[in-house]
Amino acid sequence: MPRSSPTLVIIILVFLLESGLMFSTGMDPAYSDTSGVVSRKKFVLPPNNETGLARNLKNGKALYHYYCATCHGETGNSDGFNSYSLTPPPPKLSDGRFMIPLSDTTIKRVIKEGGASLSLSPHMPSWDGVLTDQNIADITCFVRTLVVVNPTFVQPSL
Ligand code: HEC
Repeated sequence: MPRSSPTLVIIILVFLLESGLMFSTGMDPAYSDTSGVVSRKKFVLPPNNETGLARNLKNGKALYHYYCATCHGETGNSDGFNSYSLTPPPPKLSDGRFMIPLSDTTIKRVIKEGGASLSLSPHMPSWDGVLTDQNIADITCFVRTLVVVNPTFVQPSL
C-alpha cells in the first residue's frame, strides 16, 4: 500500500482551510446566507485614508486655541473677541444640543473647506493648506471635549 506523500497532505489541508470547509459548522446564518451579501473573501476595508490617524488631543488643544478660539472662544462658548462682529455668530462648540448631532466627517469638512462649502457663513474660514488632515483630526477630537452637559436641558420623553 503506497504511503501518502506529506506534500499531498499539506496541499489538501491548505485547500480545506482556504475554502473554509474545515472548521465550518454551516450553522451561522450570518455567514451561510449569501443572498445579497458580499462574500467575506471579497470584503475589503473602504479606502478611508483617515482610518489610521491617531488622535493627538494635546496637539488639537494647542491648534484650537491658536486658530479657532478667536471666534469660538477658549472654552467653546463663542465669546472670542471676533465673535461679536459676526452675523450669524459662531455656534457654541460647547453646546451638546448643537455638537452631538454633528458627525466627525462634517466637523472635519467644515474646518477643511470652510463654511461656504456647506452653505454656511463664509466667515467660518477654510483651513485647507494651513492645517493638515492630521491637525484637523486632532482639533476635531479636542472640540468634542468642549461639550458640556447643559443643566437646563430636559430629556424629551420618548
Ligand atoms: C473668523 C471666525 C471663525 C474662526 C477663526 C473659526 N470659525 Fe468656526 N465658525 C464660524 C462661524 C461664523 C460659523 C457659523 C457658520 C454658520 O452657521 O453659518 C462657524 C461654524 C463652525 C462649526 C459648525 C459647522 C456646522 O456644521 O454647523 C464648527 C464645527 C466650527 N465652526 C469649528 C471651527 C474650528 C474647529 C475652527 C478652528 C480651526 C474654527 N471653527 C474657526 C467662525 C469661525
